[in-house]
Amino acid sequence: MKILVVGSGGREHALAWKIAQSPKVQMVYVAPGNGGTPVETKHLHGITNIPISDIQELALFAEVEKIAYTVVGPEKPLSEGIVDLFRSKGLKIFGPSQKAAQLESSKDFAKAFMKRHGIPTADYETFHDASAAHAYIDRQGAPIVIKADGLAAGKGVVVAMTLEEAHQAVDMMLSDNKFGTAGARVVIEEFLTGEEASFIVMVDGKNILPLATSQDHKRLLDHDQGPNTGGMGAYSPAPVVTPELHAKVLRQIIKPTVLGMAKDGIPFTGFLYAGLMISPNNDVKTLEFNCRMGDPETQPIMARLKSDFVDVLMHADQQTLDQVDLDWDSRVALGIVMAAYNYPDTPRLGDEITGIPPQSEHHVVFHAATVFKDGKLVTNGGRVLCVVGLDGNTKGAQTRAYEALQSIKFDGAQYRSDIGHLAIKNK
Ligand code: AMP
Ligand code: GLY
Repeated sequence: MKILVVGSGGREHALAWKIAQSPKVQMVYVAPGNGGTPVETKHLHGITNIPISDIQELALFAEVEKIAYTVVGPEKPLSEGIVDLFRSKGLKIFGPSQKAAQLESSKDFAKAFMKRHGIPTADYETFHDASAAHAYIDRQGAPIVIKADGLAAGKGVVVAMTLEEAHQAVDMMLSDNKFGTAGARVVIEEFLTGEEASFIVMVDGKNILPLATSQDHKRLLDHDQGPNTGGMGAYSPAPVVTPELHAKVLRQIIKPTVLGMAKDGIPFTGFLYAGLMISPNNDVKTLEFNCRMGDPETQPIMARLKSDFVDVLMHADQQTLDQVDLDWDSRVALGIVMAAYNYPDTPRLGDEITGIPPQSEHHVVFHAATVFKDGKLVTNGGRVLCVVGLDGNTKGAQTRAYEALQSIKFDGAQYRSDIGHLAIKNK
């Protein structure tokens, strides 16, 4: 069968790489894909002429090419209704409907949903009006967290440690319209402390299939300093998510979410990603929902998955995810993101990349913002590569990943040297 993966990042490369390993698959198309897509195997093919924003063209491609199943990587096409469009044409696709995708595309929707269904999350209020927001901040005090309501490419959250920063964030979103309509409403919420983890499950409308646990590193610099990014590295499993905590998250967050969405008449299908804050006494709250896989969490998760992922997708289609027992590599997988010069501001494009080592038993390199230009592989955006190492424990996986990374060169490359530090400490 033929499978289509929508997206161009490291997450999509990892999904496509895994799907291409299935004996059931004759071709995996990735639209638009990246520099890793054509070099991977003969079963992978980048469709560079269809951008993720053109959902009509993607549906046409799926019809003409008789794509058996489509998997969507990023949130944007989901929030624009790609799943509804494909389904209306009888095309099979894994992801949430446009309405269900509001769990990610509107922070206000997600917070109101959680409040209504008793799902633990930070206390909050939503504002359209800047003066009311400023007054609320003065009443609550700092630290406090200001979030643009809509999708803002990971830049819409300001964790304000001072009142001044909080007021500035409100001005930027509500008065200066920095994020356009995405920032026309802001959610202002209580500042939470603890350790973060990513909890990702697959949902077929009624059944929940948890994937292996993971954690990512959001800050650009070592010791979790510097600006927030899309993620500078991730590993799986996450030792902070003990079996007891895992059961608690399913009971308190994931199950009520899936039941609540069904009850509200918006059944959820697709990947559901709860960003968690785990307090020192193991209370857990939902920081956010994403309705897609995480990037870079997908890269170590897919590197560990031993089951045929196409079988899993077919079960999702048949609403029989309850029959799936996933088989995981018992090793730890740890991925280090190599980012371009000047990321996360405006990254420089066009730097030549050399020295990517071939895949081995101990590592695999996923491409993200890479492209072939005049026969050379060059940088093409912020997060360029994710180098995943595999070993018996986190320290070993970290060593494997940094070893594999040593030969990779491009001007201005930025990467952290401490990916996995929390897991190593938690051991
Ligand atoms: P979000 O996109 O909502 O996950 O926010 C991005 C990042 O901001 C999270 O990964 C956290 O590091 C931080 N963050 C979000 N909400 C809060 C909160 N209520 N308290 C503390 N940090 C937060
Ligand atoms: N790594 C965080 C995210 O995918 O949202």
